[in-house]
Amino acid sequence: MRAYRGIRRSGILSSMDSSAPAALVMRAPAKINLTLDVLGKRPDGYHALRSVMQALDWHDTLQLEPVSDLLFDCDVPALAGDANLVPRAARLLQEETGCARGARLTLRKGIPVEAGLGGGSSDAAASLLGLNRLWDLGLPPTRLAELGARLGSDVPFFLYAPTALVSGRGEVVEALTPPPAAHVVLHKPAIGISTARVFRSLQPGDYGDGLGTERLVAALRAGAPPEEWPLSNGLQEAAAALYPEVAAALRLLRRAGAPHALMTGSGSTVYALFARESDARSVYDRLRADGHGAVLTRTATAGPLSA
Ligand code: C5P
Repeated sequence: MRAYRGIRRSGILSSMDSSAPAALVMRAPAKINLTLDVLGKRPDGYHALRSVMQALDWHDTLQLEPVSDLLFDCDVPALAGDANLVPRAARLLQEETGCARGARLTLRKGIPVEAGLGGGSSDAAASLLGLNRLWDLGLPPTRLAELGARLGSDVPFFLYAPTALVSGRGEVVEALTPPPAAHVVLHKPAIGISTARVFRSLQPGDYGDGLGTERLVAALRAGAPPEEWPLSNGLQEAAAALYPEVAAALRLLRRAGAPHALMTGSGSTVYALFARESDARSVYDRLRADGHGAVLTRTATAGPLSA
């Protein structure tokens, strides 16, 4: 095993402390945006959003073990440094609570980066939730969400997943009743997308009124099947203009038989939803047979706080 790139701290409790809980393994799920309305630019430079976010049964894994130092490693070497949101969440918790305990944090990535799937934000939320337990901090969800928002706009959602209405810059989260599991086919073109670059390229004509999100919430409440959910993404046109690969990926998914195709977040991943697994599988098989990368999964129906 590679040496841990660690953050060494002093004044640590002994890892032999008999009250230290056993190791924890957290699942950090991916998300898709079922809607994403950009309402306008805020004075702080961020954009005001309304979005329904939905977690998936596809996840990274974060293992947390009680040791005396704070140590972090990741199976993707480019993500294994101290800038990763996992050790940053741990340091933030230590600073805010004065907790001097340590942990060995080992991240196994399954979710691609710069893909609009929220993987890094989800990892950060798993770090906050897991360390809150491992270190017996007893912080309430609202406090964890406040700390999470400092790490990234999408982090609080993952504390309330699987289904939520988000607003503000993404950090104001209202949990929704999760719909029955839908089958999801995802395809990520071979590019990563900078979220900041897509937001920067928005023109006032790209701004919406939030009605797309309201319509989707109404469809979920009415129990509509996934093929009838009014999906929308106010970042899709801007992302497709900057990255032609996104427009090509949307066409590819439709040509493989999907009745609709939508980009998640700021891209680059596109997805389609299905009530029946056989319909999802036939689109997935077609993509794979043509040599394209694809993932077949389901929407999650339970979240970290409801488990
Ligand atoms: O909050 P986070 O660090 O994930 O955001 C990444 C970037 O995306 C921000 O620096 C900002 O440029 C852009 N952004 C935005 N409005 C939001 C969320 C993100 O303009 N609501």
